[in-house]
Amino acid sequence: MQKVQVMTIDGPSGSGKGTISRAAASALGWALLDSGALYRLVALAGRKAGIALEDAQSLGRLAQRLDIRFGSDSAGGEAVWLDGIEVTGRIRTEQAGNDASRVAALPIVRAALLERQRRFAVPPGLVADGRDMGTVVFPEAEVKVFLTASAAERALRRHKQLKEKGVAANLAALSLEIAERDQRDSTRAASPLVASVDAILLDTTGMSVDSVIERVLEVARERLSRTVG
Ligand code: C5P
Repeated sequence: MQKVQVMTIDGPSGSGKGTISRAAASALGWALLDSGALYRLVALAGRKAGIALEDAQSLGRLAQRLDIRFGSDSAGGEAVWLDGIEVTGRIRTEQAGNDASRVAALPIVRAALLERQRRFAVPPGLVADGRDMGTVVFPEAEVKVFLTASAAERALRRHKQLKEKGVAANLAALSLEIAERDQRDSTRAASPLVASVDAILLDTTGMSVDSVIERVLEVARERLSRTVG
């Protein structure tokens, strides 16, 4: 059986994980797991079904039988379907991110998504983007990266991203939301956001996207050559 290599990229909201993970997966020719999208989808499915975001039992059951598909739209862009309906834009709003962070605090939801996340690991490899990829979901991963950036810079990046998408955003409100989400993600009892002890920490404050990608790929090559050789 061919061995599946895994690179985990964890970090707080706005640390650039999404962009970096996508670029790394494409450079390595590996699959990509956007685990945040799974929590966003559980929250959206919960809202659609009229389930309160505190109702752990119902959300756990929902997470277990979530009917989702990741693929591309007619223009070749990334797309996501929930119960056969395209929800790509709907899961990317700030509201969806906050809802995701609430359902992600429920241990029963996290447990329900564990095996589903592991099934993304297919040969030759997987880049897994999230909060607990290196600590809980893929503790045996060959390469672990933890990306950070100052809260101010993360708010600025998110603001720029939203403006580019034509979404009105207020920087002060975004900073507050990011701080709230950081607080909830880092202090929850179930799989809090912490760097794995064997992760490479990379503070991307002031770094260009290209130089972060370059550094992450350098780390990957270095670690992979060690595990192979
Ligand atoms: O990464 P993204 O912003 O899409 O994640 C949305 C929320 O989902 C995060 O704020 C976090 O609470 C939760 N999440 C998580 N564990 C993951 C990925 C995301 O708890 N592995």
